[in-house]
Amino acid sequence: MSTRQKQRVLIIDDDNIIAWTLQEKLTKEGFEVKTVENGETALNLIREDMPDMAFVDVFLPGIGGIQILKEIVSMNEEIPVIMITGSGSVDTAVTAMKLGAYDYISKPFNLNEVAIIAKKAVESKRVSREISWKLEKEKKTHGIDNIIGKSKEIKGVLEMIQKVAQSDASTVLIEGESGTGKDLVARAIHYSSRRAGRPFMDINCTALPDTLVESELFGFEKGAFTDAKARKIGLFELADDGSALLDEIGDIPMTTQTKLLKLIESKRFKRIGGTSDIEVDVRIIAATNKNLKEEIKSGRFREDLYYRLRVIPIFIPPLRARKGDIPILANYFIDKFNQEFRKDKDIKGLSSGAEKALLSYSWPGNVRELKNVIERAIILESKDKILIEHLPIEVVEGVSPNESHDSIFALPENGISLEEVEKNLLMQAIQNAKGNQSRAAKLLGLSRYALRYRMKKFGFN
Ligand SMILES: Nc1ncnc2c1ncn2[C@@H]1O[C@H](COP(=O)(O)OP(=O)(O)O)[C@@H](O)[C@H]1O
Ligand SMILES: [Mg+2]
Repeated sequence: MSTRQKQRVLIIDDDNIIAWTLQEKLTKEGFEVKTVENGETALNLIREDMPDMAFVDVFLPGIGGIQILKEIVSMNEEIPVIMITGSGSVDTAVTAMKLGAYDYISKPFNLNEVAIIAKKAVESKRVSREISWKLEKEKKTHGIDNIIGKSKEIKGVLEMIQKVAQSDASTVLIEGESGTGKDLVARAIHYSSRRAGRPFMDINCTALPDTLVESELFGFEKGAFTDAKARKIGLFELADDGSALLDEIGDIPMTTQTKLLKLIESKRFKRIGGTSDIEVDVRIIAATNKNLKEEIKSGRFREDLYYRLRVIPIFIPPLRARKGDIPILANYFIDKFNQEFRKDKDIKGLSSGAEKALLSYSWPGNVRELKNVIERAIILESKDKILIEHLPIEVVEGVSPNESHDSIFALPENGISLEEVEKNLLMQAIQNAKGNQSRAAKLLGLSRYALRYRMKKFGFN
């Protein structure tokens, strides 16, 4: 025997024989059963102590069964209510189901079937609880509260997320450099919207070869091409009623762009090799770290698709443009990793030197890079504060690797002699100055004498 707590069933029926037969059967099956004869008593009992399940006769003197059903559903829609109807009252049964009844049994009923219905109801309640528990967890880990920052830029983004979550249908385009939180924002939109209980699907368009993007998104029919051994359901179908994040949208091939535009306009598409239209209701959230306007200019992105996607634009500024968020995020990640590592570490925060370094660095990898830097520092640090020596060299020196890479002069792979460089620049300066030696000298920060000396050296006279 299981030691699980017994499920409590309330039977509401004025027909004593029916109530008694049901009670006997369900008790045998391991339920704890109470019976009442009328609606008033039933409602009082329910308000005091909600049962796990109820059997409700539709026709009761006084307060009717449908009214009781409504009450129970409004108090807790997870409680399975099974209606007892007279034979042939299909209409009432249908009404009850629409109002949220779990099932119905018509008199005369088979007791074994009733027992099966009761057990299924318990199971379905357990499953629905599990689902709502999982959903709560998802909402907690992906909700809007996980977006940290107090800058006006981040506040603007948070406001947009809230608006977007309410306006259900529109397509969203999230623009921002890599690591600024585009993924985070997309999930927050989904989990704050009414679509939260439905799937959130994402795809990274860069990670896939061109030929695969379309079949991942739209699916295909068996035999659509040589390798199509069986039907494949695409992302849009899987995300029906939910949201689909198309990450790095700038990288989807032209033919797929056309198909995507059609889908957004008609909410319909065909699987590759398919003939019939499939209707879907998916919120599309597109993200990009490219400048799509540039992509349009160079003919790699459809302008009409751009405007369709950009019904609601959200731009997440790079971290260096909202420096005030840096210490807040750093402390947030310190807390987070403190909890995660738990190695009797309890790092209190940043030393003032470390904070200064973080503030003056340019963060080409944005929040992702900051998160990694903090994680590394916490692993290295065993005392109570993160010090400057726990930070990577590029952060301390305030020069990002990208910046140094972007320097005006790139060293050719095979090297070059300084003399060659000098000669080349000298020539350019003279050309720019149209032969005016004092101007050319100025351009190179040289005296006229020094310029002439070099011109002679390289034989420019
Ligand atoms: N405002 C923020 N608050 C908290 N964490 C953030 C924030 N922005 C980014 N992150 C974190 O930084 C990392 C990179 O974010 P992500 O959404 O993947 O960026 P993107 O998709 O723009 O490259 C993730 O771990 C994310 O949780
Ligand atoms: Mg991303």
